[in-house]
Amino acid sequence: MKKKYLAAALALTMILALAACGSSNGGDAASDGKAVVTVATSPDFPPFESLDGSEVVGIEVDILQAIAGKLGVELKLEQMDFDSVIPGVQAGKFDIGMSGITITEDRQKNCDFTQPYFLASQAIVVTPDSDITCKADLEGKTISVQTGTTAEEYCMENGYEVLAFTANNDAAAALTSGKAAAWVVDNEVVVVLAAQQGLVVLDEAMTSEPYAFAFAKGSDLTAQFDGALGELLADGTVEQIFENYGVLYVAP
Ligand code: ARG
Repeated sequence: MKKKYLAAALALTMILALAACGSSNGGDAASDGKAVVTVATSPDFPPFESLDGSEVVGIEVDILQAIAGKLGVELKLEQMDFDSVIPGVQAGKFDIGMSGITITEDRQKNCDFTQPYFLASQAIVVTPDSDITCKADLEGKTISVQTGTTAEEYCMENGYEVLAFTANNDAAAALTSGKAAAWVVDNEVVVVLAAQQGLVVLDEAMTSEPYAFAFAKGSDLTAQFDGALGELLADGTVEQIFENYGVLYVAP
């Protein structure tokens, strides 16, 4: 316990020292109006984050921009595979993780999170000619997932044969090419990607997934972003953003 407090105090001292030096790195949102906050993201996850040309767009981009507007900070988005997002935030390479990140107990040991802003689930996706109609039919079947996701964790823990891919599109391709019998992925994402590829989403879901933004342990940004997010949840802005993307809002 004592160690934890010490580490937190040390982190805070370092942040304050950085802020005092006028450095924008570390994103001191409170004192510096133009602070730049770096955001790690894997833009293969529509409608939360995807690429429009070279620009990252989506629900989470809009939510984070609204928060940044309130705090008077500037966002600098850095693109990477999903399995680099949380480790990068944890190591302090980036200030925020924005990637449809599910809050899990394990991740809470390594990162701090804002409050959840949406409740998703893991969907089971199959090809139209598949004989898989429910979760029980998956026994002994090969499932494709994205590396480092809760889908991968869940499927491995439950003894399924797993094929993991760093890019979400490759996990989908493993299903369409017949390498995998099913693809497990977050439900809202599959609405977009499955429709594009003529795939079938089963009614039965795997798990519940509260999404939030991730920060390094002890980051002073967590409370600031969480406070602004709380306001945007309370005044209906978050729900409106989901509506703008044609997604029915599910409160966590
Ligand atoms: N919600 C899942 C998780 O936290 C999947 C997130 C994948 N995100 C992405 N941008 N590809 O593991």
